[in-house]
Amino acid sequence: MQQARPSERRLLKADGRRAKLLFGDTFSEVCEVRLLMPTREDAWELLCEYTKGESLRRHALAVETAMRAAAARYGGPDANVDEWGLAGMLHDFDYEMFPTADEHPYKGATIMCGRGYPDHIIHAIMGHATYTNVPRDTQMAKALFATDELCGFLVACALVRPSKSLDDMEVSSVKKKLKDKAFARTVNRDDIYQGVQELGVPLEEHIRFVIDALRPVQAQIGLNRLGVSEEATSA
Ligand SMILES: [Fe+2]
Repeated sequence: MQQARPSERRLLKADGRRAKLLFGDTFSEVCEVRLLMPTREDAWELLCEYTKGESLRRHALAVETAMRAAAARYGGPDANVDEWGLAGMLHDFDYEMFPTADEHPYKGATIMCGRGYPDHIIHAIMGHATYTNVPRDTQMAKALFATDELCGFLVACALVRPSKSLDDMEVSSVKKKLKDKAFARTVNRDDIYQGVQELGVPLEEHIRFVIDALRPVQAQIGLNRLGVSEEATSA
């Protein structure tokens, strides 16, 4: 007697790629295997597998959040917000384990390729490291380059404020700190200036946009939300 035909089955393969199995007329007849687009949960697992440090995980969350907002602002009507978010979350996921320019982000790109992430996300991630010479020829790639260093810089700016918050931060004070070479020296100013130029937006406007984008996730990235109780932010 034949077994009932399931419409589809999903499985998690050993290398982390999820797939949908489509069955034929009998239970045992697999007629098609379709690899599924990794979800945000998959991406978070991948990040945590390679990144144990809290500050780099927070940076991943910050850039993910900025990229989700950037999809709507810079990506046009067809931009996939979830994909833009994945590019932001995973752009540095291999950095803790493979920090040299010989390895980052090449190792990460290879791992992502093996786990079924689409080429255009990997392409954008490769482009955020200028030394790869991978062209930033998509809006996703341009936006990632323009938000990555800026996110790090804005968090550094907030952390030296008495409020430890972005809520009372003015764009003018961020611009002033960009000119102060002694402040947050690891943040590459040239990348920020070049990023907004490639994106085709004024620096002030982009700084304002990223500050506003990050405000809702301040509690998750180590900052304070002014006027919001801890109970509300941890919910
Ligand atoms: Fe980064």
